[in-house]
Amino acid sequence: MAEHVKVMMTEEEVTNKIKEIGILISKDYEGKDVHIICILKGASFFACELAKRIKVPVTIDFMSVSSYGGGTESSGHVKIVKDLDMPIEDKNVIVVEDIIDSGRTLSHLLELLKARHPKSLELCTLLDKPTRRVVDVDVKYIGFQVPDLFVVGYGLDYDQKYRNLPYIGVVEFDEDK
Ligand code: IMP
Ligand code: MG
Repeated sequence: MAEHVKVMMTEEEVTNKIKEIGILISKDYEGKDVHIICILKGASFFACELAKRIKVPVTIDFMSVSSYGGGTESSGHVKIVKDLDMPIEDKNVIVVEDIIDSGRTLSHLLELLKARHPKSLELCTLLDKPTRRVVDVDVKYIGFQVPDLFVVGYGLDYDQKYRNLPYIGVVEFDEDK
């Protein structure tokens, strides 16, 4: 089936939102250092742009997780595919995600990270689908709330495609193609 992508948030809207979050984080962490944990691959574009907007000293590390358990829904049993390079003990950690859907992946991941004793641990996501939430997660910084549609772009993929789109769009499927 062929598909196309309809723009939901333009490049300018996304850029402006990232600037706003950068200002917020810079204020909240004034006088402190921030350690960003970027969840691969989806959050990579967002995390890099956000890091550039933060005025306090920033370090960045990457982690890749996959939820296993079968089916299309994430199970929340998180398998670490690529662990962090650096310890997070006593660091002010901000986990940066692309989108929070059921919340299962993140709530499990947060438990894993808490056990490593960071000084503080907050969550930042570019997109949030609140109507899909199954597990409660406390998210400090949210870019945009989106309805229950499949979104792509700015790091988010459909079948590994569209991550490179500079805007956020909705995948629409063309009939009879
Ligand atoms: P959950 O919150 O554990 O259900 O899973 C969140 C993950 O599912 C995200 O990090 C994305 O990788 C993926 N995901 C959920 N909704 C979308 C979407 O609309 N587009 C692309 N990926 C999505
Ligand atoms: Mg993800």
